[in-house]
Amino acid sequence: MNPGANPDAKQLKGIQMKKLTSLVALAAAGALLLTGCGSGSSNTPSGSAGDTDAMKTCLTNAADTVSQGTSGNTSSTITPSTGFAADATIGISLPQKTSQNWVEAEGMFNKALPAAGFKSTVQFATNGVADQQNEITAMISQGVSVLVVGAIDGSQLGSQLDAAKAAGITVIAYDRLLTNTNSVDMYVAYDNYKVGQLQGQALLQGMLATQGDPPYNIELIAGSPDDANSKPFFDGAMSVIQPGLDCGALTIPSGQNTQTQAATQGWLAANAQKRMDTILGNNYTDTTLNGILSPNDTLARAALASLSSAGKSDEKTVITGQDSETASIPLIMQGTQYMTIYKNTQGLVDEIVKIVQQLQQGQPVTVNDTSTYNNGVKVVPTDLLTPQVVTAANAADVYKNDTTREPCTQTPVPASCQ
Ligand code: BGC
Repeated sequence: MNPGANPDAKQLKGIQMKKLTSLVALAAAGALLLTGCGSGSSNTPSGSAGDTDAMKTCLTNAADTVSQGTSGNTSSTITPSTGFAADATIGISLPQKTSQNWVEAEGMFNKALPAAGFKSTVQFATNGVADQQNEITAMISQGVSVLVVGAIDGSQLGSQLDAAKAAGITVIAYDRLLTNTNSVDMYVAYDNYKVGQLQGQALLQGMLATQGDPPYNIELIAGSPDDANSKPFFDGAMSVIQPGLDCGALTIPSGQNTQTQAATQGWLAANAQKRMDTILGNNYTDTTLNGILSPNDTLARAALASLSSAGKSDEKTVITGQDSETASIPLIMQGTQYMTIYKNTQGLVDEIVKIVQQLQQGQPVTVNDTSTYNNGVKVVPTDLLTPQVVTAANAADVYKNDTTREPCTQTPVPASCQ
């Protein structure tokens, strides 16, 4: 279900909200306000106890709809390869280094693939889509047996992927779906819709726990529009947040409630910070901002910088994140960033290496989702891994086997985590 997919309904809702806000303003002089749609500080009770309770129940119920645990819906097997040499070269094409996970993947592939007997070539498309197209073409000429692609823009690689298929190469979409192409054999990723749901859930739970009684003011940040993951992140989060908007327990004072309006081109912190600066300047000079939906840690830190320069750090705005970046973990422990998501990159790399070994033998590969990931041309067989929520309460436990992250939960914070 994608509540963001119906702009007309959303616009209508915005208009209704504005009308309601005007009515509230008129009534404010002497009335007990019966709605959560006002734009004043949410820490000032604005409704009766019954309304507050109803809003709390609304938000709690919305948060409770999200289940933790396994992803995927239908187990099945596919056999995309008849086998290849045990010392074959595996090509890994990654996007720009927009977050720590991509940087870590390089080292992990370069270690795990040779350990399994393969040669690896890992490249980043630092200069954009054309760079990635050229790198893939070069990998095909080099004779790779499997192409693992984390695309900048999964819709822009069609002819290169067709060439790969024509050369008998197995094509795996890594973390981000490859769209509008038949030439992708499978998709391996953490469940990105679930990531969004968990962020939405944590946002509501975090505000209920730390921001006093609802109603709450929130703002939304979305990922780069060319990244196929940005939509499932946003839609997953909105599936939890929308009921709170509908019942009046949440308001978005900027009115920027669509993925397009909230987008952050290139996943760049500077773009998110600039937009948030404008939103704060236009809407929050005398209003509390209770929560920000941020799709990842890099953008969460950008939002924190924006709040700080607006002099709003004391509001302890609840901010979500993703990636368990070492720079965000101390902020989570201090309560500055509310949560992140753990999508252990080693787990994803190990899964790819296991699949490559099966492909090498010409064996069937098990996928666990055969219906969700329609790339515009076909449903791509998908192997989904399960993301985990991390807050200050469980960080030390979740990261206990991660020697890079566990130290970042400690005080004093090691230099490697800043
Ligand atoms: C990844 C996220 C990452 C983002 C920016 C997404 O496709 O799934 O983990 O934060 O790209 O690099």
